[in-house]
Amino acid sequence: MLFNEAKFVAVGNGTTWRESHPDCSASLPHEYREQCMESENSTNTPYHQPVLLNEVMKYMIPNEGKLIVDATLGGGGHTEAMLNAGARVIGVDQDEQAHEFAGKRLGQYPSSFTPLKGNFSHLPELLASIGVDKVDGILIDIGVSSWQLDEADRGFSFGKEGPLDMRMDRSQGDTAADLVNHLPEEELRTIFYEYGEERAGSKIARRIVERRQDKPFTTTTDLADFISVIKPRPKGPTGKIHPATRVFQALRIAVNDELGALRTFLDNAPKLLNPGGRLLVITFHSLEDRIVKQFFRHASESHIDRKEWPEPRENPDYQYQMITRRPITASEEEVQGNKRSRSAKLRVVEKR
Ligand SMILES: C[S@@+](CC[C@H](N)C(=O)[O-])C[C@H]1O[C@@H](n2cnc3c(N)ncnc32)[C@H](O)[C@@H]1O
Repeated sequence: MLFNEAKFVAVGNGTTWRESHPDCSASLPHEYREQCMESENSTNTPYHQPVLLNEVMKYMIPNEGKLIVDATLGGGGHTEAMLNAGARVIGVDQDEQAHEFAGKRLGQYPSSFTPLKGNFSHLPELLASIGVDKVDGILIDIGVSSWQLDEADRGFSFGKEGPLDMRMDRSQGDTAADLVNHLPEEELRTIFYEYGEERAGSKIARRIVERRQDKPFTTTTDLADFISVIKPRPKGPTGKIHPATRVFQALRIAVNDELGALRTFLDNAPKLLNPGGRLLVITFHSLEDRIVKQFFRHASESHIDRKEWPEPRENPDYQYQMITRRPITASEEEVQGNKRSRSAKLRVVEKR
């Protein structure tokens, strides 16, 4: 079953990004900076422009003979470069549309590319389903792709009318509308505070609960417009940020259990890597980067010390050698060409 030809068809037209507002990239948080940009049809356009591509190639070293998992296949940009370098790649994504696009793009590598649909939090089971238990490298480049963010129908964008969905895997789970229309007020408030760092989280949660009794929220623009009224734009540079930005980010993280999936993935990754195998993680968000940093730091310490202990003890979770002490970020040149790369951070460890 391994390395069968990918049987997928292409979807949609291409999309390129160009800045529509001079303040877009400077003021908006995280991936939602992209929503400040407008798309235009193009024929040479990627579904998603891979970030830190040179750096991924440098640290992954995806030579012939290596078996690599790209656990966030997306448009297949990183995967394609690794296939070209000679590695065999298993491409995992939970989004059917990503597989459709990447399958078409990577159809010329029938013997070295294997697509697998699923959540990277289930990576051990997904790999076992194709008879693989260990690999030489794993990449995750988390968050949503430009395609997902730009497709009104997916419901991620506050600027485009669409169903209030936000699921990366549309075959299961609660949508953003389900959360907004059914969660208790305290849970909504916690989501807005913790995942969106939205200071008006209490007020927004309270007003959502009042409004939904009369009329449930069904579309992205309905929710975005409602938040704009509750939380008018302040004067000055921060007024350029759409008032719904943080709530949309928070809902997306909650709908897809993004932080839970990341933690489970990080717990499982050591047992999937051969000695010398590398784990590369690209994040776009301080909440995610903090989790990765702490996890890597702990798993690359041979001993742990606590002030109540007479001497340091061996660390039972000692799995890795740290390869990048500080996160790798995009060059100015890359940021010029791809604004999304501005907030990308790459961290790398190697299995002992
Ligand atoms: C930033 S894009 C990856 C882009 C890709 N590296 C490329 O070169 O085109 C992130 C992708 O990861 C997928 N994704 C995010 N979280 C996931 C998870 N927990 N399990 C599987 N796929 C996930 C999304 O559906 C999306 O397609």
